[in-house]
Amino acid sequence: MSGRVNLLVPEVRANPYPTYAELRRSPVCQVDPGGYWVLTRHDDVVAAFKNPAVFSNTGMRMVTKPAWLGHNPFADSMIGMDPPNHTRLRTLVNRAFGPPVLARLESRIRGFAGAIVDRIPEGTAVDFVDAFCLPLPASVIGELIGLDPAQHHLYKRWADDLTSITSIPPGTAESPRMAEIRATVKETEHFMGRVLANRRVEPRDDLVTDLINARVDGEQLSDAELMNFMFLLLVAGLETTIHLLSHAMRVLMEHPDLVERLRANRAQIPRFLEEVLRYEPPVQAIMRVTTADTEIRGVTIPKGSPVALMMGAANRDETHFPDAETFNMDREGMNNLPFGHGVHFCLGAPLARLEAKLGLEALLTRFARFTSAGPMEWNRSMTVRGPVKMPVVAHAK
Ligand code: HEM
Repeated sequence: MSGRVNLLVPEVRANPYPTYAELRRSPVCQVDPGGYWVLTRHDDVVAAFKNPAVFSNTGMRMVTKPAWLGHNPFADSMIGMDPPNHTRLRTLVNRAFGPPVLARLESRIRGFAGAIVDRIPEGTAVDFVDAFCLPLPASVIGELIGLDPAQHHLYKRWADDLTSITSIPPGTAESPRMAEIRATVKETEHFMGRVLANRRVEPRDDLVTDLINARVDGEQLSDAELMNFMFLLLVAGLETTIHLLSHAMRVLMEHPDLVERLRANRAQIPRFLEEVLRYEPPVQAIMRVTTADTEIRGVTIPKGSPVALMMGAANRDETHFPDAETFNMDREGMNNLPFGHGVHFCLGAPLARLEAKLGLEALLTRFARFTSAGPMEWNRSMTVRGPVKMPVVAHAK
């Protein structure tokens, strides 16, 4: 391939898949902005996920805590660590984040989904991101980290600001946007600090209280580790699930037959969602940094290089998914990679699947058809992909 591909230009954001197909033909190369290395074949991405000694998660920390930001609890959370530091934290939070959390949340999520769907007007164009895809996961995250679900626009802004750190290329001059992001970090810390202080005085039957009380072999989470984990939940759990819901809606608009099929058989919703997660993974790339020179397919990536593991490209790799560019919910033996792989495998995957299933159940109970009411506007990020605006009309018949 001649010249570097720029993954952030609008044409690529609107549809990155032809570019990914091109990248899979030179599967170990550098892209713009920033000159990051990318791996795009399924086998290479999985091998890198399985090898944290060489593909270190401190790469995540490196790109989410640039010098202009200085302080970012998300970057200091376990997602920016390797074993054994990561193992200690993951063991502690696993205790508080196990199956009982889902059981405790299920009826709340069903309630949120029903109320949100009831508010969507029938036969009138709405921005579906605002009307459905955002409020559902935002209400769930609010519940998890002890914030008022009614304030969800506030923490959507925090999550947007925190995820946009990676779209500011290294070496960019100081700008008002940077000052805004620094202010967001402070504001988020202030709100979350109040929740933590409150739960220490008045414990509740909730995740924050469970995290404060979590103990493994006499160890517990420090105040800073609790704050870092709350930032991680906000960033990891909000934008991702919003995009899963919006991608699901787009597929339903493009394939009205699937709406009928799922309405007739709700048990197929999880299978449908698995294919949405392959076809349009909300997380398109996960960052690592190499701890040694490493050779892949005859190309040497030097030690200390940021490397993006491109799940968006790996999920369309023909060698793993025949007819990969086609949406087909009847695929057998799905080995998609939307939630990563290995020691950092997404802690919230069962929760995200549950939210999306209950959300779609509520939508398909009330509506029989969805049509597009105008062009979508895409976000601008190296790592997560989804629309920021999605005009849709929902029809009862
Ligand atoms: C469709 C929705 C979601 C997608 C596509 C997604 C994707 C991912 C991916 C790819 C990773 C791996 C990161 C790595 O390897 O460095 C990850 C990690 C993580 N996710 Fe998710 N996620 C989703 C929803 C959620 C939710 C709802 C939560 C919790 C509220 C959550 C919490 C986490 C946490 C805590 C980690 C870090 C795990 C670790 O470092 O050990 N995620 N997620």
